[in-house]
Amino acid sequence: MKLIVEPATRPLSGTVAIPGDKSIGHRALLFSLLSATPVRVLGLGDGADNGRSAKAITALGGSITRDGAALVIQGTGLDGMRAPTAAIDCGNSGTTIRLLCGLLAGQRFQTTLFGDESLSKRPMRRVIEPLAAMGAMITGTRTSGGGALDITPPLVIGPATAALRAIDYALPMASAQVKTAILLAGLFADGATAVTEPGPSRDHSERMLAYLGAPLTVAGRRTVIDTRGWDRRLAGLGFEVPGDPSSAAFLVVAALLAGAGEVRLPNLCVNPTRTGFLDAIAAMGGQVAHHEPRSAGPEPVAELVVRGPAPGLVATEIAGDLAVRAIDELPVLGVLAARARGTTTIRDAEELRVKESDRIATTCAMLRAFGVACEATPDGFVVEGNPDRPLSAARVHADGDHRIAMAAAVAALVADGPSEIDDADNVATSYPGFAAALTALGATIRVA
Ligand code: S3P
Repeated sequence: MKLIVEPATRPLSGTVAIPGDKSIGHRALLFSLLSATPVRVLGLGDGADNGRSAKAITALGGSITRDGAALVIQGTGLDGMRAPTAAIDCGNSGTTIRLLCGLLAGQRFQTTLFGDESLSKRPMRRVIEPLAAMGAMITGTRTSGGGALDITPPLVIGPATAALRAIDYALPMASAQVKTAILLAGLFADGATAVTEPGPSRDHSERMLAYLGAPLTVAGRRTVIDTRGWDRRLAGLGFEVPGDPSSAAFLVVAALLAGAGEVRLPNLCVNPTRTGFLDAIAAMGGQVAHHEPRSAGPEPVAELVVRGPAPGLVATEIAGDLAVRAIDELPVLGVLAARARGTTTIRDAEELRVKESDRIATTCAMLRAFGVACEATPDGFVVEGNPDRPLSAARVHADGDHRIAMAAAVAALVADGPSEIDDADNVATSYPGFAAALTALGATIRVA
């Protein structure tokens, strides 16, 4: 599938309902499987990745029914999961496969997990190592991609022959997927399982597991699941999945670049571990207002409003904790940086190398296709911004990466002619309605 995008001829304006947050959606599905009572989930997104987690929980003995606008998930409780009758296809979804590793590590049956071409290249040693230290048996394919030894899918997990052991683990990288896999396995271990992380990765698991009654405590960067004295019961009335800030980020940057009459994005998750991109935009001189703050269960929610063009954007540096809190938005922030005066530097983001594509390489290649000077570094990239010159119309290959395709579509709005983005099918993994949303705001974008 390809996207054909015309330069914007007028400011974007309107209100767009952003679909449910992908990270929270995965957790709402997978954690509800562990609940002893039915859980109502409102607002689950329609992306293919969340669909993979939904299929996985039915393969493991859960059921999903619709009740009006909500899905009702009947889980198996902690001890009722059943062996799947076939290998589980995780598609393009790193969160599905890594969280399932944690859920399945302590099960007395064997499961095979596999995925698409991109997922089959992604590193799994980061989850296998700590889970093996807990006593889990997980095997995969040994690879030496990029020189480093790793293990890639398909993965075969279990059967566990004894209860898992609790560990005290210092994560080598800030990864919410790895952190969550260990915490989930910790529910099946005797004693206190502790995870300490080097940076503020998204904390939805901590919030949502505690909400379901898991024996979880957080102190700074250290999270502990202590099963001693726990009745092994998780239960909750339901989850409301707020809009996905990572999907919203494309429309926010589009509105800042093309100018916004007024773009309103209601009901978004504004958990601080997810809103680094808003802090980076503020540092660059872009103005995005928050309205109507409220809580949706364990998550903070607000409406974002972008008004007027963003004159005088300036370059910034994105590094340290901020790079962690903006990790999925760095490609589209690279597009904003191309139109900001000065040199923007992104550091401490080596995790980008192991996303759905090597996003340091693919972001730089995408920006260069638009005539922007962008240099890759081992842990980030450097963009030479110029607010005075339009980008050059481009033909971009998205490398099957949804976020590269959507970032390129945003760049194309400020190019000097129509642009084409090839290999964009995977936009459907996170935001199937992306092109329709940009169109509703007044852009001209075609899917071919
Ligand atoms: C996610 C965690 C992040 C993020 C991904 C979703 C999650 O990955 O990039 O899009 O839902 O836990 P890492 O855990 O690898 O940092």
